[in-house]
Amino acid sequence: MTKAVRYDEFGGIDVLRIEEVDRPVPGDRQVLVQVKAAGINPGEAALRTGAMTDIFPSTFPSGQGSDLAGVVVEIGAGADRFAPGDEVIGFSEKRSSQAELVLVDVDNLTPKPENVTWEVAGGLYIAGVTAWGAVHSVQLEKGETIVVSGAAGGVGSLAVQLARRAGATVIGLASERNHEWLRGHGVIPVAYGDGVTDRITAAAPGGIHAFIDTYGDGYVELALALGVAIERIDTLIDFPAAAKHGVKTEPGPNGRPGAQVLAELAGLIADGHLEVPIANAYPLTQVRQAYTELERRHTHGKIVLRP
Ligand SMILES: NC(=O)c1ccc[n+]([C@@H]2O[C@H](COP(=O)([O-])OP(=O)(O)OC[C@H]3O[C@@H](n4cnc5c(N)ncnc54)[C@H](OP(=O)(O)O)[C@@H]3O)[C@@H](O)[C@H]2O)c1
Repeated sequence: MTKAVRYDEFGGIDVLRIEEVDRPVPGDRQVLVQVKAAGINPGEAALRTGAMTDIFPSTFPSGQGSDLAGVVVEIGAGADRFAPGDEVIGFSEKRSSQAELVLVDVDNLTPKPENVTWEVAGGLYIAGVTAWGAVHSVQLEKGETIVVSGAAGGVGSLAVQLARRAGATVIGLASERNHEWLRGHGVIPVAYGDGVTDRITAAAPGGIHAFIDTYGDGYVELALALGVAIERIDTLIDFPAAAKHGVKTEPGPNGRPGAQVLAELAGLIADGHLEVPIANAYPLTQVRQAYTELERRHTHGKIVLRP
């Protein structure tokens, strides 16, 4: 038997529990991974409450989680690209990564560089490929200026760094306590709240060319008010505003890049070109505490579970 996060009904954090489940057996093209770290993401909380059930139906009991990093324990037929003992980064498409042992499609894994920590590797997938997809969607050119809302969060902290690497001037909207980290990564920090439009305008005398919204709550309209073209505004969360104004919602849950981009990001981290801040690591048994912290919506970087 082995431990996994489970829930049996939609609800608040208290529906989450740890269950003893059968040890999974790898089928064709599957790899059994002993999870060392599994990131947590706001989308999982939305699935758990039933808020996204029209788009992403659930069956119960449900597992939870996509992000993972760990050690290969066993491989199925056709999965011999990896061998027991290999350290890997990857993702589950079956809401199952928050567990001691997880079956992963062989195509959803990439080797973990030795100098990337378990916490960073385990928290990389959703935030990393989402940030990568969002930055690509707004087609930045060198010398342009972009604004990122939620700039110090899981997705935002990576998006600002990738936008800098694309040669853009980056304005990051964040609360005061994150401004030093943003400055240290070449980002111009701007506090959100009353007067934010004036502060952005003052920080960008040459105008704003692109906008990535990772927070919702009016940032699409703010981007439009700043004169950003609709095809250069990307929101990861405000789907009503996207439908109303025709802005982008890339990469979107069904169009996320896979293991190839994960490998690229892991390489950047290994080479010291990309940082994934780790806000906190909790044992698997403290999954409720981990989501309690995440759902305050002030995480700097990633929270991970350590089975
Ligand atoms: N569509 C997709 O495929 C996809 C994939 C991943 C994530 N998402 C969505 O993207 C969003 C961000 O995810 P995440 O993992 O980055 O979340 P997160 O790590 O919880 O980040 C939350 C961030 O929001 C910031 N924030 C709080 N209040 C704010 C405000 N009023 N204005 C601007 N920023 C504010 C916080 O900054 P301070 O601490 O500085 O206040 C914090 O850094 C979530 O809604 C998630 O569901 C979508």
